[in-house]
Amino acid sequence: MTPIRWGILATGNIARKLAHDIDTMEDAVVTAVGSRSQAAANTFAEEFGVPHAYGSYDALIHDPNVDVIYVATPNHLHYQNTMACLRAGKPVLCEKPFALNARQAQEMIDYAERHNLFVMEAIWSRFIPAHRKLYELAWTGALGEIRAINAEFGFRAQFDPVSRLFDPSKGGGALLDLGVYALALAVKLLGTPDRVTGFAQLSATNVDEQAAIILGFPSGAVANITCAIRTQLSNDARIYGTKGRARLHEPFWRPNDLTTVIDGVEEHLTIPRQNWGYQHELEEVHRCLREGHTESPQMPHDDTLTIARIMDDLRRQWGVTYPGD
Ligand SMILES: NC(=O)c1ccc[n+]([C@@H]2O[C@H](COP(=O)([O-])OP(=O)(O)OC[C@H]3O[C@@H](n4cnc5c(N)ncnc54)[C@H](OP(=O)(O)O)[C@@H]3O)[C@@H](O)[C@H]2O)c1
Repeated sequence: MTPIRWGILATGNIARKLAHDIDTMEDAVVTAVGSRSQAAANTFAEEFGVPHAYGSYDALIHDPNVDVIYVATPNHLHYQNTMACLRAGKPVLCEKPFALNARQAQEMIDYAERHNLFVMEAIWSRFIPAHRKLYELAWTGALGEIRAINAEFGFRAQFDPVSRLFDPSKGGGALLDLGVYALALAVKLLGTPDRVTGFAQLSATNVDEQAAIILGFPSGAVANITCAIRTQLSNDARIYGTKGRARLHEPFWRPNDLTTVIDGVEEHLTIPRQNWGYQHELEEVHRCLREGHTESPQMPHDDTLTIARIMDDLRRQWGVTYPGD
């Protein structure tokens, strides 16, 4: 099988983890990396044995040997970088949050669909084996009707007004960085909410440093989500159905462990993720590219848009604004 040739756009923390996981796969290679600086691109290329290192994102985007690009820049650049890739005819896996707001997300998706190009938000939790097992339990009815979800994702970061977590000009805040995973779980299992409400404690830089969110769904189900960048939380997720319940253990967005209690019988499953855990979403991207799909049924465009609209709604309630809103 001819390997899929990845281009990695940016050389930060998450770009390194993804490059590591691509390296473990037989049907893919990192063929090029692009950075704002040639020195950073060279260092990255040396670390991962990447043949082409570019000192600009533009050079990477226009490399004809690149089949697909992974956008790993801070939140406020996802729209701009993804659009540039798409305009050059490149399929994209874009880090979460897909965009700063639903308007940007819609534009990116519309462009990709019009030009028959694959694009996906990198909600890697959706492809983690323990998540897939949970979804199977939900779809087969083993848990009964899902009535409630509780999910939390939070850690205590040092307050730094210019870091991407706290700087509103970089799309900072707990919701876009961490809450997005809990929203992705709720939307997967319950669909589009018809009621969205929440309370946020804002930082000195006016981003949500912690938030409590409640979603209501047409079925009567509710989701209760907490996210935080200044508070360590339990980081697990619990799903309650009419026949049973399930717990995705910490860290719920990439768990190895799933506990179920169905008809009163408890079962503990350990389903290990591979490497850092990104390999599973990469396998899906490869499958979609090889089969000519423009979106993944596991992380479809409609879910990305639903999540972006919920986040817009919450930010409006909290008075958190980003450039371009
Ligand atoms: N999937 C996950 O598990 C996961 C985990 C963490 C973060 N993320 C997401 O991944 C994205 C990147 O996060 P990260 O933790 O990798 O961030 P990071 O370590 O700060 O890296 C971001 C990279 O983006 C590039 N960049 C371009 N403009 C920049 C600017 N104005 N300020 C800072 N960096 C800039 C830089 O690469 P060059 O200098 O090479 O251009 C930088 O190394 C975020 O959207 C985040 O939400 C995902």
